Amino acid sequence: MFIETRNLTKQFGGLVAVKNVDFAIEKGKINAIIGPNGAGKSTFFNLVSGSYTPSAGRVMFKGNDITHLPPNKVAKLGVARTFQTTNLFEQATVLDNVIVGHRLRTKSNLFDAVLRTNRYKREEKKCREKAMEVLEFTGLTHITDQLAGSITQEEKKRVAFALALATDPEVVFLDEPAAGINPGETEGLAELMQKMVKKGITVCLIEHKMQMIMKLADKIMVLNYGEKIAEGTSEEIMNNETVIEAYLGGDASA
Ligand SMILES: Nc1ncnc2c1ncn2[C@@H]1O[C@H](COP(=O)(O)OP(=O)(O)O)[C@@H](O)[C@H]1O
Ligand SMILES: [Mg+2]
Repeated sequence: MFIETRNLTKQFGGLVAVKNVDFAIEKGKINAIIGPNGAGKSTFFNLVSGSYTPSAGRVMFKGNDITHLPPNKVAKLGVARTFQTTNLFEQATVLDNVIVGHRLRTKSNLFDAVLRTNRYKREEKKCREKAMEVLEFTGLTHITDQLAGSITQEEKKRVAFALALATDPEVVFLDEPAAGINPGETEGLAELMQKMVKKGITVCLIEHKMQMIMKLADKIMVLNYGEKIAEGTSEEIMNNETVIEAYLGGDASA
């Protein structure tokens, strides 16, 4: 098993945001998590990537228990993620964002980057090459020297992918990668995800755009009020009564 959660639970005070979730993320596939707002999707990502410590349950990565590892250790094992909102250094170029973002992830040492120490300079070349490689992969070569504050929403989404890819991940968790962009751009991001899978990277994404999910995902988990209410292929999910009820019948307005 590649990534597996067992009985994964997160409580915030009296609220159970994720409740007893068993889910297997399949290697080399596009795995998706869907569900109404407040269902616990982002919290699930935070638990798997080490940003939150579970209240109960476990996270297994390639047979190892990573439940209590801090985010930087999880990242080093090859688990990368993007956030629902991408915070870029707006006054820096796209290239520098990817270089610095990569360094922050690997060394957690902002001072090296700011003060340009010898270590920083030594490693800069390598980081720069890696950054150029992922910027090419994500289709951003033409804007590497533009300020991040001046690029489009869609380009920012691609930079978020580039940041995740710069860590040489085995699996990438993408939190609503297509939020706030148009259908044509969404199609482009879908193609990029397929390209990642072809390269051997496992994808796990949260997304509200159902058409995209249904076309793209090999495996889908549906969360509702923190609980897994269904799991299966697109077709299985689309025909699942409980899912239809959660989306159309229940109160999905959190
Ligand atoms: N750090 C936190 N502290 C308290 N409550 C939180 C925290 N993070 C998320 N929650 C709550 O947990 C529930 C699930 O949130 P979230 O995982 O962000 O949902 P989703 O991503 O599915 O929209 C929500 O009710 C949210 O308010
Ligand atoms: Mg969310």
